[in-house]
Amino acid sequence: MKIEINDLRFTYPTGLEALQGISLTIEAGEQVAIVGQNGAGKTTLVRHFNGLLQPSSGSVLIGEWDTKKHSVAKLASRVGYVFQNPDEQLFSKDVGTEIRFGPRNLGYSKEKIDELVTRALSLTELSDKTDTNPYDLSPTWRKMAALASVIAMDTPIVIFDEPTTGQDAVNVARIANVIAELRKEGKTVITITHDIDFCAENFDRVIALSNGKILLDGSARDVLGQEEILAQTYVDPPQLTRLGKRLGLKETVRNQDEFLKALK
Ligand SMILES: Nc1ncnc2c1ncn2[C@@H]1O[C@H](COP(=O)(O)OP(=O)(O)O)[C@@H](O)[C@H]1O
Ligand SMILES: [Mg+2]
Repeated sequence: MKIEINDLRFTYPTGLEALQGISLTIEAGEQVAIVGQNGAGKTTLVRHFNGLLQPSSGSVLIGEWDTKKHSVAKLASRVGYVFQNPDEQLFSKDVGTEIRFGPRNLGYSKEKIDELVTRALSLTELSDKTDTNPYDLSPTWRKMAALASVIAMDTPIVIFDEPTTGQDAVNVARIANVIAELRKEGKTVITITHDIDFCAENFDRVIALSNGKILLDGSARDVLGQEEILAQTYVDPPQLTRLGKRLGLKETVRNQDEFLKALK
């Protein structure tokens, strides 16, 4: 499902203009990373995709739906949003109930709900924790419960707000695996991240935001190679990309495979 954003501006009640004219199209099935310094407007932008925030001017279309004309509840059938902080999202007394909530709310049949919940539990490796209270889970597993509850809704568009922040390497790999599965299913995945290595490894397209505006938008290779421009939003290219540059490699490399290939 296509997302079309046209000259989006958003001003908080404090008077701060957090988005200053964003125009952007994301095609169905794209895997997009959004990067940029703290306060660049990344969260403000994605909260417009599911109607949590409404444009001060301009428009956001999810498929043919204008977010101004559809409720957050309705938009939830198209856009899943995993909050940066799972504590803002989880509310049930056990993981199983938590994960059933979304698909049940969308009115799916019992069979479909069972199938979606089983799949979400298995993808996030939570199958043995369905009876646990989310608040008794470690921060790592709480994060996975938040992912699972959104994945279970089977929306064509899934947004992750800083999924890897504070996660250990094992869980970062688990999250990358979830994203790879969603990609296989043809979902649109939009991920806000500070982890540039994670971004280089898992996304095709990278959008860099700075002060409420798009600074760069292009293939991960092109964007992550623009060291001087990225520096304006305090984003460093991946270590391997920088090392490749210093070694004088002709191609911009993003990961170990590309690095080794270019060295040969
Ligand atoms: N609820 C709010 N009220 C007022 N200002 C806010 C609010 N949320 C965020 N902001 C401000 O809007 C700007 C963009 O914030 P945000 O979208 O959270 O950035 P990012 O996700 O890129 O770190 C920042 O200057 C931030 O302080
Ligand atoms: Mg944010």
